[in-house]
Amino acid sequence: MIARERSLALFERAQRALASGVSSAFRAKSVPHPLYFESASGPRMTDVDGHTYIDYTLSWGLLILGHAHPAVERAVAAQLRRGWSYGAQHEGEIRVAEKLVELIPCADQVVFSNTGTEAVQVAFRIARACTGRSRILRFQGHYHGWMEPSPDTVILPWNDAAAVEKALEARDIAAVITEPILCNGGCILPAPGYLEALRELATRYGTLLIFDEVITGFRVALGGAQQRYGVTPDLATFGKAVAAGFPLSVVAGRAEILHVVASGKVMHGGSFNGNPVVLAASETALEELARDNGAALARAADYGRRLRAGLEAAAARHGVPLTIHGVETVFRLSFPDEGSVTDARGLTTPPRGLLGAFLGAALDAGLFLLPDGRWYISTVHGETELEETLAAADQAFAAVRES
Ligand SMILES: Cc1ncc(COP(=O)(O)O)c(C=O)c1O
Repeated sequence: MIARERSLALFERAQRALASGVSSAFRAKSVPHPLYFESASGPRMTDVDGHTYIDYTLSWGLLILGHAHPAVERAVAAQLRRGWSYGAQHEGEIRVAEKLVELIPCADQVVFSNTGTEAVQVAFRIARACTGRSRILRFQGHYHGWMEPSPDTVILPWNDAAAVEKALEARDIAAVITEPILCNGGCILPAPGYLEALRELATRYGTLLIFDEVITGFRVALGGAQQRYGVTPDLATFGKAVAAGFPLSVVAGRAEILHVVASGKVMHGGSFNGNPVVLAASETALEELARDNGAALARAADYGRRLRAGLEAAAARHGVPLTIHGVETVFRLSFPDEGSVTDARGLTTPPRGLLGAFLGAALDAGLFLLPDGRWYISTVHGETELEETLAAADQAFAAVRES
């Protein structure tokens, strides 16, 4: 592997003052060690050792418009000159709320927070206040943020509607929460009819259905997975792409449900909520995404389809066994030798086996990828990137074959 000496030295230094050396546990998993960056533009990032990569991590899915998008930069710069926090109301928050209500099928209204983790907590509070029940039903392999797990949680296998029905029969479940596409657990699609079954069961048992669209929102369709699959949840959480890289999260739902926030029954606060810089970024991002009937996302989807086909062909050429799961703009490479993560160390140690070999070789060939084999596509990955990526992947699969 190519040595990245300045990154390695910075990582060693970081571990002295910064617990674990990184700012989010998942980043410790990078192959061969966490890298340090000094600039990024469009679909590319440059590290402190002077290597430029095509970026398919997109800050873990945030950067739907790529790095340093000029329109977002202009909007943010203009707002910075007018002040960067008011701790009070401004018209930008109304405009973004109105746009979200227009785009998201389940939204009559929205609530703003900063991170996906917070939005999920707000959604749980709303569901508990609306139903007078406390238990939350969630699914194995789904990730809804890093908050303390609640003892009031039931965890079931996913894609098994009969198991959900059995749990709901007790009538003490406030909400069922699911990633509508299991992006965090392998980019697995919902089985045909499964989301519809969750919808029907939740209605029948008086439980709220929450779609956690922190990844799928503004990525798998403009209105999220709920639009793509035509199944409308009671509540949905959004984050990541909604402000194209700035910290904004959203709970969306029907007015009669969000009434518990309006009435004060559910307390919702936050010094950073409704930040004008963040909302300027979001307003511009939503404009860019919605223009020409979602043409930019359609282009990204087309790129993802061709990239995925090219990766499958390259792996086959080199006799590397590979399966790709997911959708056009977020998918995951899965190799047959991957073990399941059974302890906390699995969270922070770099992957081994075929995936580890592929990631190391792909990095040397100029691709910056997530340690779990997931790829995110932005609206600014173009023909040049596709060509370069497939050439790099060809080298990486050849190296995997040799290893
Ligand atoms: C589906 C899902 N929900 C919630 C979260 C938590 O979001 P955040 O990292 O912004 O707190 C994530 C983060 O990856 C996520 O993928």
